[in-house]
Amino acid sequence: MLLLAAPARADEPSEVLEAHGCLACHTTDGTAGPGPTFAGLFERRDAEYVARSIREPGADVVEGYAPMPDLHVAEADVDALVEALRTLPAEEPPFESIVPLAVGTLGFLFMHLFLSFHPVRSRLVDKLGAGPFQGVYSLGVGLPFAAIFVGWMYRPYVPLWDLGAWARWVPLVGMPIAFYFLIAGYTTKNPATAGQQKHLGAGPVGVTTITRHPALWGFALWGLCHLPPNGDLASLLLFGSITALALLGMAHIDRRRARQLGEPWEAFVKQTSIVPFAAILGGRAKLDVTGQAWRLLAAGLAYGAMLGLHEWELGVSPFPY
Ligand code: HEC
Repeated sequence: MLLLAAPARADEPSEVLEAHGCLACHTTDGTAGPGPTFAGLFERRDAEYVARSIREPGADVVEGYAPMPDLHVAEADVDALVEALRTLPAEEPPFESIVPLAVGTLGFLFMHLFLSFHPVRSRLVDKLGAGPFQGVYSLGVGLPFAAIFVGWMYRPYVPLWDLGAWARWVPLVGMPIAFYFLIAGYTTKNPATAGQQKHLGAGPVGVTTITRHPALWGFALWGLCHLPPNGDLASLLLFGSITALALLGMAHIDRRRARQLGEPWEAFVKQTSIVPFAAILGGRAKLDVTGQAWRLLAAGLAYGAMLGLHEWELGVSPFPY
């Protein structure tokens, strides 16, 4: 037993704070966040104030911030948290810039639209050939996509709006629908999907009777419902560009298919809609529920897994307090 006993070691201050979820809103390196930074806290405040901030978050509200939500910290943990904040080591503020994220998100959006734009695309395909054009396309959207990941690491926190914790209900309710559209979209034969033009004669089936662009609606809903609870510039760039690309993609695919496929596509358009349920409500389509049970189940499972992973992976709790 003695051999197995780990050497006694006090928890690192940042680990204590992390374990209580404080670092979702507070930074320890002087940079901005939804809450004021913990760097230099004890130069501004004393232990009594800090303890009160944790016990009764509404008692003192720092100017310029929304009130901290009550996290119901157990009385037994308050002293450990105050001690962790007092002994927090000083850190160098890291490099921060919105530029790589802006270049990545806006570049990703722009390159998609530019390289898919008919006059540009047809000219490039003529000049380069279909294969090399695919290479140019992949590189053109791939480089900004990579910049998004780099940009996210170096993003500054620039607050734009704060709707409070209730706004987390929007993705909590919207994301199961987004998961359903994504899963059903990628598992249903649909002439609007890339490479599936051959299914045009069969008429709409499954989720396509709800909308002819289910997978793009999945992306659009994902972006849209993450905007209300994430009111900062970096989130606006990320979720806004996903939403814009998905919505513009629907219009773009419709135009391209109409050009390529002509009359049979127009017939398919008449039986379907972009806006979910519009064709059904307009009496132009009949809801087809065959095969939807397992897709709904899969969407539920994916949603449950994401709820579990969200805080662990992204450091942000998906739940309103
Ligand atoms: C959901 C976001 C959020 C979480 C999570 C959070 N806080 Fe806060 N905190 C805030 C905001 C916003 C303020 C500023 C407004 C206020 O004083 O109520 C604040 C203020 C504070 C202050 C006063 C800071 C100052 O400069 O005067 C302390 C201390 C504090 N929080 C400690 C904690 C601790 C400890 C935890 C973890 C148990 C925690 N906070 C978790 C949002 C949060």
